[in-house]
Amino acid sequence: MFRSMSPIDRSAYGVTAALLSLAFACTPSSGAAEAPREPGSPASADQGTAEQATAEQPVSLSAKYAQYFPIGAAVDPGSYQTHAALLERHFNSITTENEMKFESLQKTEGVFDYTAADTMVAYARSHGMKVRGHALVWHRQTPDWVFKDGSGAPVSKAGLLSRLKSHIDHVVGHFKGSVYAWDVVNEAIMDDGKYRTANEAEADQRSPWHGILGTSYIAEAFKYAHAADPDAKLFYNEYRNYIPEKRQAVYEMLKQLLADGVPVHGVGLQCHLSIEPSQVQGNHGYYQTVKELETTIELYSSLGLDVQVTELDLSLYVPGIKYTPDQYYTTATFTPELAAKQAARYGEFFELFRKHRSQITGVTFWGIADDNTWLSEFSSGRKDFPLLFDAEHRPKPAFERVTTF
Ligand code: GLA
Repeated sequence: MFRSMSPIDRSAYGVTAALLSLAFACTPSSGAAEAPREPGSPASADQGTAEQATAEQPVSLSAKYAQYFPIGAAVDPGSYQTHAALLERHFNSITTENEMKFESLQKTEGVFDYTAADTMVAYARSHGMKVRGHALVWHRQTPDWVFKDGSGAPVSKAGLLSRLKSHIDHVVGHFKGSVYAWDVVNEAIMDDGKYRTANEAEADQRSPWHGILGTSYIAEAFKYAHAADPDAKLFYNEYRNYIPEKRQAVYEMLKQLLADGVPVHGVGLQCHLSIEPSQVQGNHGYYQTVKELETTIELYSSLGLDVQVTELDLSLYVPGIKYTPDQYYTTATFTPELAAKQAARYGEFFELFRKHRSQITGVTFWGIADDNTWLSEFSSGRKDFPLLFDAEHRPKPAFERVTTF
């Protein structure tokens, strides 16, 4: 999911990202010189399943889940260094938060810049972490030139397909052997189950891919990605898959793609969750229950597809409630009661994920600790506390809950 961002939010995001990349552009990756380990293997000898927590060190999250699925985190050019201690102890997979998106890699036609992404991939490999690639085709964070011809008019179908192919060839080819799974297409279906088109009411919801190519861009993207790296696992990634109409539409789309012989291997459930389901019947969050998510996992895996949780976090804010600034949570109002409630909800979802360990091949958090989360950055001063570690990088009650079983 990508909440509506005001132009101020977006430009603030751009400035933050630019500052971070400047700040870290000259810093070599800490472990880049170490010999790479097999991706997904334990980061250190003491990370085996038998590892015990000590007074100073809690149990390792990824070691605890070693028999279940890899545990990932989205990282940015700053956080993989500022949060290295947590990352290296608790996670064995990463996703670059923005650095493999279209606008990051090919801002100008034909000019590919892999600097930031390469540094993070080298870091991950030297620490034995898997890398998920995110995301090849999306309606956001894609430069305008992609959809225009030389005179500024919409590019032709053939022109856009050739740009799609060229981007995927370059990018998937570049990361071949390092990125084991790609989110090939992100968010092609709306909450009501219809395809996302170029005519959605809100400008930031519109898909120029669909506007020019119709739904054909989806299959083509998967075919191009498979040709570029036949070993990569290719995912369709979507948010709010717990809404019945949307779940069904995604299922129908995937079923058809598979019937047409399109190389799709898995579905990503973003899972930007909240502390409780919404009470408002028309709100998407009304369906945000463990039961609905279980139905989703079962339905998608009935197609023989892998399922991964790709962008997990658990906001304190309940969808459908309008919060005024004086109601925004602060460190002081994120009380132990609230932390316990968040822990219980995290616990229920992880119980579900463990139950479906044979279908779920990865669980990735969208961030590492509460001091660096898109939910605080993008929401006009509204602070959130959605992850397992607090702003001081200490494990929260939610961490205890998901590692106690
Ligand atoms: C969506 C995208 C992610 C990220 C989040 C918000 O979920 O898939 O890449 O941009 O929105 O940060």
